Amino acid sequence: MVRVVISLGGSIISDDPLNFDLIRTFVRKMESIDNLEKLGVVVGGGKLARAYIEKLRSFGVNEHILDEIGINATRMNALAVSSFFSDSNTKIPETINDAVELMKSYRFVVMGGTEPGHTTDTVSALFAERMGAKLLINGTSVDGVYTADPRKIGNAAKIPAMSYGDAIKLATQSSIGAGPSVFMDITSLNIARRSGIKVYVIDGRKTDEYREIIDGGKTSGTVIS
Ligand code: UTP
Repeated sequence: MVRVVISLGGSIISDDPLNFDLIRTFVRKMESIDNLEKLGVVVGGGKLARAYIEKLRSFGVNEHILDEIGINATRMNALAVSSFFSDSNTKIPETINDAVELMKSYRFVVMGGTEPGHTTDTVSALFAERMGAKLLINGTSVDGVYTADPRKIGNAAKIPAMSYGDAIKLATQSSIGAGPSVFMDITSLNIARRSGIKVYVIDGRKTDEYREIIDGGKTSGTVIS
């Protein structure tokens, strides 16, 4: 039996407003994995967060408040995701401590952001570290880590496996350029490294792949270890 955290990127569940079919399929598949003792799901803010943040930023709103707005968006999405699970929290925890407490009562614990200054990538790494999960699956809209942003550079190549050190180097290089092209934030990779949490970066819309990873480590994405 394993403990796992999945980071469900806002970009993959966002639709108009959410891709409820994808969320329902994801939840059904997670509920059918016998090998799963506990699962933490951290949900991103997606279009909801972006719509508020971009508009309010153009009015000069304080960045700390924009983060708070983003956190509220992630929690709204998290509550929507949790409502599909039959054995999950119906109140979204605001801290990792509270999330871990809820884990005593539920097999599935769903949460969003915690405090300003980071993204749900960091929340998912902290959650994994705290609940003793050695596996973190980051479901994103790109099917792995590439040598460069595949949406901008035609000959960018997917990296099947890499060390924490190389992942941190690549994330640092990509965060220098403008735009949100980093596959995972650097803090989350540092946390994974210090606690030996294996990170999988996958196309989060391929809902069968979560089980393949949990049951046997098989992936078409990138493994960071
Ligand atoms: P996301 O984790 O979805 O951010 O949180 P992201 O990585 O920018 O979005 P995707 O995954 O690529 O779509 C949305 C926003 O909420 C705030 C940040 O402003 C973040 O950009 N946030 C989130 C926090 O301030 N703290 C948190 O713990 C989580």
